[in-house]
Amino acid sequence: MKTFKKVLALALATVMSAAVLTGCGSSADNRMIIRIGHNQSTNHPTHIALVAFEEFIESKLGDKYNVEVFPSELLGSQNEMVQLTQTGAINFCVASNSLLETFSTNYTLFNLPYLFASAEAYHASMDDESITGPIFESTKDAGFEAVTWLDAGTRNFYTVNTPIETPADLKGLKIRVQQSPTNVQMMNLLGGSATPMGFGDVYTALQSKIIDGAENNELALTDNGHGDVCKYYSYDMHQMIPDILIGNIAFLDGLSEEERAIFEEGFDLVNEVQREEWTDAVAEAKDRAANEQGVQFLYPDTKPFQEACAPMHEDMLAQYPDLQPIYDAIQAYNEQYPSTES
Ligand code: GCU
Repeated sequence: MKTFKKVLALALATVMSAAVLTGCGSSADNRMIIRIGHNQSTNHPTHIALVAFEEFIESKLGDKYNVEVFPSELLGSQNEMVQLTQTGAINFCVASNSLLETFSTNYTLFNLPYLFASAEAYHASMDDESITGPIFESTKDAGFEAVTWLDAGTRNFYTVNTPIETPADLKGLKIRVQQSPTNVQMMNLLGGSATPMGFGDVYTALQSKIIDGAENNELALTDNGHGDVCKYYSYDMHQMIPDILIGNIAFLDGLSEEERAIFEEGFDLVNEVQREEWTDAVAEAKDRAANEQGVQFLYPDTKPFQEACAPMHEDMLAQYPDLQPIYDAIQAYNEQYPSTES
């Protein structure tokens, strides 16, 4: 399956690069094809939201654009899709904020463990353009720009057979993390052994015992089958990392003012639909994981985890002092919407 996907991705990438080089990204009817890639299944909130975007753009500009959404890593891994978006071989993709810190260090901020005190503080921060603006625009020179954010819930540890109640339980365990320096540093501070890899490789790595566990939101258990292998999911709540819809800068800059306004409406729609779908999707995933996959949900005291990661905040601010005002603005939301955990 994986090899098939890789071959398909390579074939598509080749076709698309040729299309870009010859300037013909258009369909038989002469409409321009807009390609959007992501790594989730077709029942995931992100896919549902992108299909709503496709319908919206085609209802407004259907004589000119044909929008195509490619789910499930069909265009490659997230890293590969970001590179395809950079070069303009595809127009948009969804990337985890984690990966983007290797393209612009400003993105490091949203990857910090325990940055947001609550989901409300997270949402309010991400909806505040004075917070996201300097980060979202920081990759323009790299060829892409963030056009909206998507909810990816809270990341928690889950393992094949070790209940994680305290950071000490992670000792000696190989845990898959996303391919980002911040995530590797976090795992090391918590005492586990960080094993970075792409999302599409995690299931097989769990099944073949190359890793002992991973960390993600609840949808990974059901949508990606991780709950078939991992039986303990522990709410240590270490990160709320948004997904980001990024667009090729040359494509975006090439839109007329009227078209850009319609696309902006479309980006808002993606955010709105995805977030509307998210809460129910998490509740459903949790229910299915508990009742059909036999996953046990654990609720450890999060403080020891938080204390182990605390030095990362100071480290990051010392390394990137320009991020201090944005960090402070997030702290103000944390005060307004504090944690409800006792
Ligand atoms: C979440 C997130 C994805 C990301 C994945 C991962 O599912 O929504 O964008 O790729 O985590 O852990 O890699």
